[in-house]
Amino acid sequence: MENIDVTSQSGHKPVFLDDVLNVFKTKVGTVSTIFDGTFGRGGHTSAMLREWPSARATVFDWDEDAIRFGQENFSSLIEAGRLKLIRSNYSEFKKVRAEEPGFPQGFDLMLLDLGVSSPQLDRAERGFSFYHEGPLDMRMDQRGETTAADIVNTWDEQDLARLFIEAGEVQRPFRVVRAIVHDRKNKKPFETTRELAGLIERVDGWHKKGSHPATRYFMALRLAVNEELTGLTTALPDLIEGLAPGGILAVITFHSLEDRIVKNIFKDHLHLGKLVNKKVIKPSDEEVRVNPRARSAKLRAFERGT
Ligand SMILES: C[S@@+](CC[C@H](N)C(=O)[O-])C[C@H]1O[C@@H](n2cnc3c(N)ncnc32)[C@H](O)[C@@H]1O
Repeated sequence: MENIDVTSQSGHKPVFLDDVLNVFKTKVGTVSTIFDGTFGRGGHTSAMLREWPSARATVFDWDEDAIRFGQENFSSLIEAGRLKLIRSNYSEFKKVRAEEPGFPQGFDLMLLDLGVSSPQLDRAERGFSFYHEGPLDMRMDQRGETTAADIVNTWDEQDLARLFIEAGEVQRPFRVVRAIVHDRKNKKPFETTRELAGLIERVDGWHKKGSHPATRYFMALRLAVNEELTGLTTALPDLIEGLAPGGILAVITFHSLEDRIVKNIFKDHLHLGKLVNKKVIKPSDEEVRVNPRARSAKLRAFERGT
């Protein structure tokens, strides 16, 4: 099983790995089918396949690089029939389930680990990071039509302000938005991450120690480019529907708006099952120390009735 070493394949420990496994271990009865809608570098998937050696996993990722990584690094699991990789948006789950031959009709364990992966963040050419100069892109799915540059260069002042307030939780984005609209008209359209980050640094300055002023603006743009909140809202009822009796769906979020969506949709489906934990699970100090990305992470899980 040389391909099931979590840390060596992904270069880091997946967020909430122990908590996710503990939540899944509360599943009564056998685990034979696993769905991971956000494969990434396969950290969670491989840990689950190691924990449940007779289970098979069907996994989605819409990023070409993630799928290629899986094909290259998990070939023995694929050949053994234990891993099936599908390049798809997890919000297409219902459609793929209906159309893909042999797609399991009920899953015992299902996971979404939302947001970007470390390799996506670290690669300058993907345009997610304000620390690296790269194209203002931020598409997780390279087939997507809209880039962050499209939004920054074409949305009007009001829409940009609303985006940064609502999705970025920036309290007063108005000076930044005005400067964006001024510069794109009078200088040139924004093309790179550093051009935008530089403007935000100049206009907003540094408010809080440790947090770059562009953090929230970039987060809002990423959510909009990838339509992450609408995708999650569409997917969750379909995933709950795709659980086998007694199956468990776990969702890791990194943004308060995402967590609110998960909380509300789980609540709306209590006629089909129950919450595994009454309270949301948050990372321990130790987890945040080892894995700073876990800082804002939250984990919720829903168990389908039998
Ligand atoms: C945080 S990473 C997952 C890391 C993974 N759990 C691991 O342990 O390696 C999120 C991954 O989900 C993918 N992703 C995000 N939103 C998606 C969506 N709507 N559909 C499919 N994949 C998505 C991203 O491309 C990224 O590779």
